[in-house]
Amino acid sequence: MLHWQVDPLRCVGCGECTRECPVGIIILRDGVAGILPHRHKACLRCQHCLAVCPTGAFSVDGVHPDACNPVGELPSPQTVERLLRQRRSCRRFRPEKVDTAIFDRLMRALAYAPTGKNQRQTRFTVVDDPEVMAKLRQQVMEGVTQAAANDALPDGLQFFAALARRYGDGQDIVFRGAPHMVIASSPHDGPSPEADVFIALSQLEILAQSFGLGTLWAGFAAWALRAIVPSVARGLGIPGEHRALYVLLLGYPAVRFHREVQRAPRFVFRVTSDLAAEPWQSPHPPTIAKGSE
Ligand SMILES: Cc1cc2nc3c(=O)[nH]c(=O)nc-3n(C[C@H](O)[C@H](O)[C@H](O)COP(=O)(O)O)c2cc1C
Repeated sequence: MLHWQVDPLRCVGCGECTRECPVGIIILRDGVAGILPHRHKACLRCQHCLAVCPTGAFSVDGVHPDACNPVGELPSPQTVERLLRQRRSCRRFRPEKVDTAIFDRLMRALAYAPTGKNQRQTRFTVVDDPEVMAKLRQQVMEGVTQAAANDALPDGLQFFAALARRYGDGQDIVFRGAPHMVIASSPHDGPSPEADVFIALSQLEILAQSFGLGTLWAGFAAWALRAIVPSVARGLGIPGEHRALYVLLLGYPAVRFHREVQRAPRFVFRVTSDLAAEPWQSPHPPTIAKGSE
């Protein structure tokens, strides 16, 4: 049930909300905004009306505009670009627990990832305790080892037998000894389950790296949880219909990178005036001078 309220004393009838509403259900009546009759169900609850209103006239689902942060200064493009270039996959982690306050900030930021139709059905299953992580890693790898021994690895995933052997030899290729992990999963009947999962974890990764944490997209762990030991995922409360599932490992890095890598733009094409495509020619080829941004 949507709780959408307009304060008629604040609404100045500017119409910004009517232009902004993505589903077009807000109209002005006698100069005051309101939702079209019988269209409450169409509301995405995206809060754009609340955010765009210059006078703070709307409350949505109990969120009052006066309780919302004003929009502030954004990080500079240079800062964000540097973060994107310097983000590296981390495969060596320190064992200790990430500071609880940092962890909490990361978890709270997950709420801000966009989702298709603002459905926000992505579930985040979070391991915030390194001891729990060790137990879970062991359970997954025991299951993988068992499946390999029983010749029960799914088609295409037979290489997990080698990963299980390496684990037995003390080499954790799947979880890389990370002290934490976040599993994001979404039900398949949503409008964009895979995209929702990847966007949320991408945002999480970038914020985590801005705190100096190491992160790793763990495709091996995701495969294992989805296809080899799905019972472990069920045990964690991840519903069976959550087939879009991915894993991000995180922790303090035990590796320090001393320089950025260089990546040439690949597979970037610009659409030409005759609606064909040609390779992107950068008018500003990357500078590689020291300290350049
Ligand atoms: C979806 C996805 C899954 C990945 N899975 C793994 C993995 O299971 N193990 C691993 O060591 N690296 C994994 N990676 C990391 C990639 O190998 C890495 O991103 C790539 O080599 C580029 O290095 P960089 O992330 O440092 O730029 C994965 C990356 C992505 C995007």
